[in-house]
Amino acid sequence: MTILSGIQPSGVLHLGNYLGALKQFIALQNEGHAYYCIVDLHAITVPQEPEQLRQNTLSLAAMYLAAGLDPQKSTLFVQSHVKEHAELGWILNTIATMGELERMTQFKDKTSGVKGQGSVTVGLFDYPVLMAADILLYQPHIVPVGEDQQQHVELTRELAKRFNHRFGETFRIPEVRLQKEGARIMGLDNPNKKMSKSASSPNNYIALTDDAETIKKKIAKAVTDSGTEVISGKDKPALTNLLTIMSVLSSKSIPQLEKHFAGKGYAAFKKELAETVIESLAPLQNEYQKLMGTPQTLKKILEDGAHRARSVATKTMEQAREKIGLLK
Ligand code: TYM
Repeated sequence: MTILSGIQPSGVLHLGNYLGALKQFIALQNEGHAYYCIVDLHAITVPQEPEQLRQNTLSLAAMYLAAGLDPQKSTLFVQSHVKEHAELGWILNTIATMGELERMTQFKDKTSGVKGQGSVTVGLFDYPVLMAADILLYQPHIVPVGEDQQQHVELTRELAKRFNHRFGETFRIPEVRLQKEGARIMGLDNPNKKMSKSASSPNNYIALTDDAETIKKKIAKAVTDSGTEVISGKDKPALTNLLTIMSVLSSKSIPQLEKHFAGKGYAAFKKELAETVIESLAPLQNEYQKLMGTPQTLKKILEDGAHRARSVATKTMEQAREKIGLLK
């Protein structure tokens, strides 16, 4: 089985990225060959400070490895190191429609406060097409992502089918793979919106690099629902979110946790939740610190990864070029 996914190097990773994506990336390494990409060309669809972007790219590589990515088993690489991503992105632009891209909810969310389209970049609009190229180049069977990326994977499937129909069988149609629990972790300060690194308040998220004190404070401040019992349910979005986080990290089911906290109240629950988060992140944080001290090793891993990724991507591109009639 071939697996592909990507994460943007646009600042800190948070618990949502970890529970919705990174954690399953690591588990999937034993089920097939995985390609995990650091999508720097996606990150620049919003302004980035150049030196910071370079730093974020390395630090994301360290985070992938600290979470347990084994560079012998999986291919870890930087998107811009494999030029075929941009090339296939362009070709797919010629079959994707404006209407399709206008329907993307992430684009609508990201531009909702902007008056008129005058200042919205073409790159931000076109973002899902580049993502389709990232995926289709590696002919993956599955694409593990959080729920917010599901619509983009559906568009990818649509574009692959259209290309295959027009030019002949070229791309495998990939399946999206969502976590049963954790596919959509909500903000701690607002359980109706997903946890997000671009949130206006750092109290929205727990960064994977937050220290124990910060984690305790953020969880203590997290919004809860009315009532006193620690229970999940449709009318308890905040508690359901916190219970989901605890459930995934502790491998205890939500009913088990509800039973455990029966009659104990929110303060006791938050205290244990903070301990669980701190303990779960500690090994990753230690490893991350060590890896950040060895940038040359990180660069070497990314170079090897790009080399391996390129060998697959160039093959797919050769076929795609041939199919659409580009002269050899
Ligand atoms: P990005 O960098 O925003 O997020 C990385 C991964 O984390 C997931 N995620 C979440 N999961 C659960 N709860 C949340 N609150 C939460 N927030 C983020 C995302 O769904 C994602 O899986 N477009 C992608 C990157 C990308 C990509 C690709 C992914 C580019 N090319 C090809 C897969 C395949 C993105 O911006 O993810």
